[in-house]
Amino acid sequence: MSKPLGIYYPEYLQLDKILDAQSLESGKQGDPAHDEMLFIITHQTYELWFKQIVYELDAVIDVFDDPIIEDKKMGRVLHLLARIKTIQRVLVQQIDIIETITPHDFLEFRDLLIPASGFQSTMFKEIEIKLGIKRQHRISADCEFFKSRLKKEDLQSLDTLEAKETLHDLTDRWLTEMPFLRYKDFDFWKSYQNSVDQMLDKEQAIIEANVTLTDREKQFQVNDLTMTRAKFESIFDEEKYAQLRLEGQFRFSHQGFLGALFVNLYRDEPMIYTGFRFLTLLTEIDELLTNWRQRHAVMVQRMLGTKLGTGGSSGHDYLTATTQNNRAFPDLFNIATFLIPRNELPKLPDELARALGYFFRGEKDRLKELEL
Ligand code: HEM
Repeated sequence: MSKPLGIYYPEYLQLDKILDAQSLESGKQGDPAHDEMLFIITHQTYELWFKQIVYELDAVIDVFDDPIIEDKKMGRVLHLLARIKTIQRVLVQQIDIIETITPHDFLEFRDLLIPASGFQSTMFKEIEIKLGIKRQHRISADCEFFKSRLKKEDLQSLDTLEAKETLHDLTDRWLTEMPFLRYKDFDFWKSYQNSVDQMLDKEQAIIEANVTLTDREKQFQVNDLTMTRAKFESIFDEEKYAQLRLEGQFRFSHQGFLGALFVNLYRDEPMIYTGFRFLTLLTEIDELLTNWRQRHAVMVQRMLGTKLGTGGSSGHDYLTATTQNNRAFPDLFNIATFLIPRNELPKLPDELARALGYFFRGEKDRLKELEL
């Protein structure tokens, strides 16, 4: 009698379901197109990775959904976000595989797929929404397709998802709670504003003293500097900021944006570094999503030229527009505008700087004092 095998690989992975899930549309029509198998398997692989990304995002959102975020959980958050990034790199590279289908061979089965489209990937939409891309951030064609191309139940579940707090919302809330911005009589933003004014005055003096520039060139550079001053004013003046936010130029709340700027400026302080890593990972995830969109859009141009997509969009043009527009954390990219060099940064009060360092470093100093 043979021994029982115990847990069995194909059953554990339910391979019967997965490996039996490739049904060629061209085969059903009696003329199987060889490359349709690759087309289906590539898409299915993407959907599985999308599922994993959603799973990791849920775990991250869970941590941030707590009124008090436990410091200890931040390490895990960073680990999961880094995992998402690693998967995304594979997703960008996987475009290479679909590109082994030539545009001519694609024609063998493409029309049979109309009106199905990647646009109907609810997993992809879930990733976008969970990160923070909501209907109001999408281009009008994208919003239109939401209404017209999705099944009612899919649309409803995406609507429900949009009503929940996204990772963007939760990050904003976390940033607004940034301590350290006011410490006893130290008001960080007042000091920062002074530093910015001094820096810009210095730059203006350099332009005016530059003998290699004509008056016209000087005027041009001074005008540019005036525009930079106006940009800085928009973050120092809460009302101006609110107006620009309404116009879509900022997405974080005013306090959230300032919190993110502070984290970027003082990332060398050990207590701030984890926050900086977190924001950097969000930036990288947003960038990789954009990289995927770009590669997908260029692949689509190569595959279709200027033809419409099977889902009815303008194809390459539509996808290029989403590349520019569908961003989850635009503020984290634009923050660079407001960074000033380290040597111009307001010095933090000693007591605060010590509190932002590693505890054991303070202990060592104390021990040294005791030895003395
Ligand atoms: C021959 C290969 C492919 C072609 C020609 C193609 C074409 C298109 C086109 C034209 C659209 C715009 C909507 C429409 O009009 O249909 C689109 C959207 C989309 N495709 Fe593809 N695609 C291909 C492969 C893939 C693969 C492998 C994936 C992986 C999942 C994918 C995922 C998506 C997604 C998620 C969208 C929605 C994007 C958005 O609305 O921002 N596509 N595709």
